[in-house]
Amino acid sequence: MPDSITVTDNRTGKTLEIPIEDGGIAASEWSKLLPGIWFYDPGFTSTAACMSSISYLDGDAGILRYRGYPIEQLAENSTYLEVAYLLLNGELPTEEEYSNWEHEITHHTFIHENMRKRFLEGFHYDAHPMGMLVSAVAALSTFYADAKDIFNLESRDKQIIRLIAKMPTLAAAAHRFSIGMPFVYPDNGLHFAANFLSMMWKTAEFRFEANPVLSKALDVLFILHADHEQNCSTTAMRVVGSSHADPYSSCAAACAALYGPRHGGANEQVIRMLNSIGSLENVDPFIKQVKEGHGRLQGFGHRVYKNYDPRAKIIKRTADEVFKVTGKNPLLDIALKLEEVALNDDYFISRKLYPNVDFYSGLIYQAMGFPLEMFPVLFAIPRASGWLAHWVEMLDQDSKIARPRQLYNGTDSRDYVSIEKRV
Ligand code: ACO
Repeated sequence: MPDSITVTDNRTGKTLEIPIEDGGIAASEWSKLLPGIWFYDPGFTSTAACMSSISYLDGDAGILRYRGYPIEQLAENSTYLEVAYLLLNGELPTEEEYSNWEHEITHHTFIHENMRKRFLEGFHYDAHPMGMLVSAVAALSTFYADAKDIFNLESRDKQIIRLIAKMPTLAAAAHRFSIGMPFVYPDNGLHFAANFLSMMWKTAEFRFEANPVLSKALDVLFILHADHEQNCSTTAMRVVGSSHADPYSSCAAACAALYGPRHGGANEQVIRMLNSIGSLENVDPFIKQVKEGHGRLQGFGHRVYKNYDPRAKIIKRTADEVFKVTGKNPLLDIALKLEEVALNDDYFISRKLYPNVDFYSGLIYQAMGFPLEMFPVLFAIPRASGWLAHWVEMLDQDSKIARPRQLYNGTDSRDYVSIEKRV
């Protein structure tokens, strides 16, 4: 059997054999038979927009790998910074490479004083930290004019290091501003996650020492959120980057995509949902409502995973570690009951709806003291490395500018009517 399909245009009787390569069919081949006939695929549910060698995802089997390494092994043995290096460079670093990388990231954590004093402090007092982050990331492009030089590899590497290093600083600054606390400068003697926690929580102490279990848990969450192939925000990064915009502007677009409740905002929605359910006896009526089409079970379902999200399994274990330190999040019992009911209910089974990464991550963040508004921000910090890995891959592939077609279904041509003659 040849690895190909044959398409027949019934209007003309012409046929075309198209090879199936790497699990896909080249649209350029299709166009040879059917020029001007477009695939109608809103939401890109059946479209592969690129070749990529960064993350591998098998949604039916519940598998996620970064550069071939299973996510479970990385979460168990690696660190976020090592994973970021892996995503960007394709290989795990040697000791020397890691030490240089960590040094570079650690020494680019500071932001320009104008960014803090004039830009971030100009926001309204109750600005959402994710809105602030989206804008701050875009504003970085105005501080680093060399960022436009995207085909200069040295400049490209510099912007990548700056972005990964400054995300926690901007994130913590957005939080401190929103609660009226003074900004905390990075402490470059601390590891990545511990430094972020210091910028978040430090008050009058000489040095903020995060509980090592909590900084480790946060680092694991950063690993789990670092990349997830062509999700909505990564697609935004690649689409905007394909116009050859600088990486800060492209990253700001990706951040904006992550802001939405269907994507990075979902764990915030999970906590809101658990709060609104309030107690165990309300779980069954809530599930009934969802099945009747009133709202969704937040943190359940995924475009690609039609099985338990492997990241959710790791997060569930991490939650146990965190709760030993912080005390159990009172919403946990409701979440466990919801999961149990849903996993045994035909509505969710038949639609292959399982917990996704966001179902338990919010409970951890909340137990660690993060306000709900910070949840998408916490997601954006590590995802920046995935976005950048895809941006580099897209540039190295000399990708065309993203420019899909549409099927026009509007009004036919008509003549302009002056305002006094309109009815
Ligand atoms: N609760 C109840 N029903 C659901 C849910 C849910 N969470 N998710 C999907 N369904 C149902 C839909 O109503 C639909 O049912 P129908 O066939 O009877 O109409 C069916 O399952 C398919 O749903 P779609 O919306 O077509 O699936 P899609 O792949 O477009 O959506 C999404 C995926 C957006 C993640 C969806 O499952 C959802 O809204 N989940 C809740 C929000 C969430 O947790 N988002 C985080 C995703 S992970 C991440 O971004 C990091």
